[in-house]
Amino acid sequence: MDMSKVKTSFSVNGKAVELELEPRRLLVSVLREDLGLTGTHHACDTTNCGACTVLVDNKAVKSCTMLGVQANGKEILTIEGLPKVGDMHPLQKAFIEKQGLQCGFCTPGMIMTSYWILSQNKDLSDEEIKRMLHGNMCRCTGYQGIVEAIKSAREMLQKQEGKINE
Ligand code: FES
Ligand code: FES
Repeated sequence: MDMSKVKTSFSVNGKAVELELEPRRLLVSVLREDLGLTGTHHACDTTNCGACTVLVDNKAVKSCTMLGVQANGKEILTIEGLPKVGDMHPLQKAFIEKQGLQCGFCTPGMIMTSYWILSQNKDLSDEEIKRMLHGNMCRCTGYQGIVEAIKSAREMLQKQEGKINE
């Protein structure tokens, strides 16, 4: 093994991975370049925009803020691993239906933060949703469609849960 690299094991979207990583490399680069998970976008590189958001042990984390080696032992979820109903997750469907995107660059990060938001509490007000989205920036759509999409996905998920519990 190259002594400048560190053996790092973690799970991504439910699959175990083991890599030898240079300690300086960011998690976002490891996901995109080593694992081909290019749905996670790499933009500002300064923890501002949120385009690189993934879930780490069920918490929304900007993957340009974390080193790849810090993922050791963790569970990572990226946009590619979202559980699907049919061909997409209800959040993805709702972002399309409620015009929660235009160019789509911020969208994977927005959706991963939204997924985390919905996992926290199902009865959040618009203001609470906006506050929890504050780390994700969109330069073209405006935020109202995004908030509407999150609420619409929440309804879809609640209906699904209702059907499962019937
Ligand atoms: S690329 Fe990570 S916050 Fe912008
Ligand atoms: S949809 Fe273009 S930056 Fe958000």
